[in-house]
Amino acid sequence: MSHSRRAVLAREFGPPLEVLNLETVASSVPAAGRVAVRMLASPINPSDLIPVTGAYRSRTALPVVPGFEGVGVISAVHPGEDATLIGRRVLPVGSAGGWQTVKECPVDWCIPVPEEVSEEQAATAYINPLTALRMVETHAVAPHVRTAVVNAGGSAIAQVLVRLLRGRGIRTIGLCRQPGSVADASLFDALIPTAGGGWEARLARLGPVDLAFDCVGGAEGAALAGLLRHGGTLVHYGLLSGRPLPPSLWRHRPDLVIDLFRLRGWVHTVGRAELLAAFDGVFELVRTGVVRTRVQERLPLAEFRAGLWLAVEHSSRGKVLLCP
Ligand SMILES: NC(=O)c1ccc[n+]([C@@H]2O[C@H](COP(=O)([O-])OP(=O)(O)OC[C@H]3O[C@@H](n4cnc5c(N)ncnc54)[C@H](OP(=O)(O)O)[C@@H]3O)[C@@H](O)[C@H]2O)c1
Repeated sequence: MSHSRRAVLAREFGPPLEVLNLETVASSVPAAGRVAVRMLASPINPSDLIPVTGAYRSRTALPVVPGFEGVGVISAVHPGEDATLIGRRVLPVGSAGGWQTVKECPVDWCIPVPEEVSEEQAATAYINPLTALRMVETHAVAPHVRTAVVNAGGSAIAQVLVRLLRGRGIRTIGLCRQPGSVADASLFDALIPTAGGGWEARLARLGPVDLAFDCVGGAEGAALAGLLRHGGTLVHYGLLSGRPLPPSLWRHRPDLVIDLFRLRGWVHTVGRAELLAAFDGVFELVRTGVVRTRVQERLPLAEFRAGLWLAVEHSSRGKVLLCP
């Protein structure tokens, strides 16, 4: 039996606003070991757009439906497999495809969502919270780390990082292009604007920095690394500037620990038991308010273009959720 689903998809690589379209496509009953998940909400994250541009063409099959995270309800299973799964609210992780009415995926990659977690927090519980938790658990080890710096201070992930770091008693300094765009500025012990220059001198005056989280890369990431104390740690996990860290960094600062963190790498190497345990940790952070992602807009799939614009131009206002 075949059905149809609506999906925001790209049939060729290119600028997301040009190559993404909403289409109705055929879908069939799930194959063995797979389920269909009726999507409820899926955010637009910076990393969703990268495969669409063709940056990872060797591992991106066309057509591509973006959306690495989101929440949905299992709506169908392979005939003869566990029908009691139908109706369960899950996060279908481990692959793209959130921006459609129904996502098909392996049942083993479905993470059950506790009832008390709201739809908005569930939809955004994966990429940023799990990344922040993994990075902090790995690197923010007291008493060696007293001061940390987080750039893109207004980003969703910075809001999780700063709460986790504060919870460990670590003084946390934020960098941001415009301080007015940081919703929870008071969470940071200091917030330094980078627009206009001079931020390096201001940061240096605040004393030694043990640990830096960089998702900007390029010149800002390199300058931040240069300000770390001898033997400090740089966790580099994003490229918001569109530029990589200069290779000379490794030559100039051989004393640094530089971790190029990719959630994808971790998620695809741990087993399901470890993944479920990590999500238990995230859901606990949601319950206690350490993770409380702000949502600026919920839009139907048909308005994905407006959503893309908001997510790129006004990212600091909060996440845009596509709600099929
Ligand atoms: N490695 C991983 O596994 C992993 C996992 C999760 C997230 N990430 C990365 O983490 C980063 C943040 O993600 P998010 O979802 O938290 O972002 P977000 O909520 O969409 O926020 C983006 C933020 O970045 C700022 N920004 C944009 N371009 C910038 C630039 N060139 N220089 C400095 N700041 C800039 C924006 O601030 P203003 O526009 O207000 O200045 C905004 O506060 C992304 O690069 C994402 O790919 C990586």
